[in-house]
Amino acid sequence: MSEYLDILKEEVKSVETALREFLDSKIENAARLSSWHKQYYENIKEYMTRGGKRLRPILVVVGFKAIKEKVDIDHLYRAACSVEILHNGSLLHDDLIDHDETRRGGKTFHATYRDISSERGDGKEIAFDYGMTMAILGGDSLINLGAEAITAAKLDADVGVLCQHYYQFAYSNLVDGVLLEMNMITDEDSTSEMYLQMVRMKTAVLFDRSLMMGAAMARASESQLHAFMEFGIKVGQAFQIQDDVLGSFGDEEKTGKSTSGDIREGKKTMLVFETYDKATPAQRKEFDELLGKNGMSDDEVDRVRAIFRESGALKACQEQMNHLLSTGQVALDNAEPSLNPKYKNFLIEMSNFLVQRDY
Ligand code: IPE
Ligand code: IPE
Ligand code: MG
Repeated sequence: MSEYLDILKEEVKSVETALREFLDSKIENAARLSSWHKQYYENIKEYMTRGGKRLRPILVVVGFKAIKEKVDIDHLYRAACSVEILHNGSLLHDDLIDHDETRRGGKTFHATYRDISSERGDGKEIAFDYGMTMAILGGDSLINLGAEAITAAKLDADVGVLCQHYYQFAYSNLVDGVLLEMNMITDEDSTSEMYLQMVRMKTAVLFDRSLMMGAAMARASESQLHAFMEFGIKVGQAFQIQDDVLGSFGDEEKTGKSTSGDIREGKKTMLVFETYDKATPAQRKEFDELLGKNGMSDDEVDRVRAIFRESGALKACQEQMNHLLSTGQVALDNAEPSLNPKYKNFLIEMSNFLVQRDY
């Protein structure tokens, strides 16, 4: 455990340095355009650096080191930032889609700009539109900057193309996964199998491509890439189920985001599917009346939480996570040649954290 924490601390520090360096270079370029552009990139940097666990770039770096411990390329950390930047672009858009006000303990990007507009005297509708426009642009900027970080890593041509391919694959899956999620909100026939497919696309693919990106830079074998893919998918799915659990049962002080938003939006999380599966007819009736209802009171949100607990849905989610976790962990044993034990162990510890975390 302590070796895991030591490696984590060291790697997060290196990722953070590379990220700030990259974003500062963008702020410097933007300053040449106008002070307004500079301010915009500074706001993006603030959003990105006020928090965040940096899980995905850590997976890139550890993916590399599990194949080749000695780093023999110049800009591994810059390339690793690509997936963190993409992730942040998707969060910025996700906050807008989910109507969330808080992220990592601060204002969401659209809320920041909406309030700037209000403070200068704009009416409610204009301010709302302004916040939305800026968040669309902010996400656009980040998604492109992420791809730029790979180019700026000056990788060998074949590896660079492969990393861009992984990036694009992750991004297109993410968007298709969010589309599926939107559709599931109104689709009466959606199932927990569809949910697992949806979170595979929305969340887990970025986990497995991050590992594969690192491994590709270390020139991994097909078998090693495959093992990372299996691990990343299962662990990424478990991670999203825990995100759902924290989205209703977390402590807002710790998660830095809302713990009633999913219920108010009527999101079809794994908690919801497990409730459909396990609730008594009376619980189900009450649940259907409440979930996603317009203008829910705090007491009604609490009732939904109680049904998640009393029906056994919460416990079932925990069991699902444990199953996904152990299936993912076992997949790492299939890599040929086998992974460096120090970093393989790191991945096991990290995956345990992902399902036990409270933030
Ligand atoms: C949150 O991801 C969004 C999901 C994909 C569930 P993280 O929990 O990795 O968010 P940060 O980067 O640490 O804030
Ligand atoms: C995660 O979506 C963001 C994407 C993968 C696009 P969620 O809505 O589930 O995550 P949080 O809870 O807002 O971080
Ligand atoms: Mg969200």
